[in-house]
Amino acid sequence: MPKLVYVLNGPNLNLLGQRQPEIYGDETLGDVERDCTALAAELGLEIRFLQSNWEGQIVDWIHEARGTAEGIAINPGAFTHTSVAILDALHAFEGPVIEVHVSNVHKRESFRHRSYVSLRADGIIVGCGTQGYALALRRIALLTKDRP
Ligand code: DQA
Repeated sequence: MPKLVYVLNGPNLNLLGQRQPEIYGDETLGDVERDCTALAAELGLEIRFLQSNWEGQIVDWIHEARGTAEGIAINPGAFTHTSVAILDALHAFEGPVIEVHVSNVHKRESFRHRSYVSLRADGIIVGCGTQGYALALRRIALLTKDRP
């Protein structure tokens, strides 16, 4: 049976490919979902690929992932830098968590240099463009490979 992985996206990522393409590139979130779905099949994973502009919705999805998913790849968008609630929810999740940022947040404004989610993440992928999602899935596949 494929292992379930949640791929969670926070606010404004629905506008990927449209907003600030000089920072975030031309690929849409739909393109990312398609590529992740294809890669997941190769890796023996099944993904639930989700996006919300609402913090509480993301918290609810993390709760849903508890006990059902093997891992979480998460790009929390701007909530990265503000959300203790998402951090706390991730602390209640037992599997690997990989944090993804399309842009290199460390080359940007100083308020983007702090991440609450990094206090829980097992790995962080920044500045690799949308390829970061694929790297996160590969990492989760490796970290969960010995689990039944
Ligand atoms: C982002 C970086 C965040 O600082 C920003 O608020 C986003 C996207 C990224 O993928 O580079 O919305 O998470």
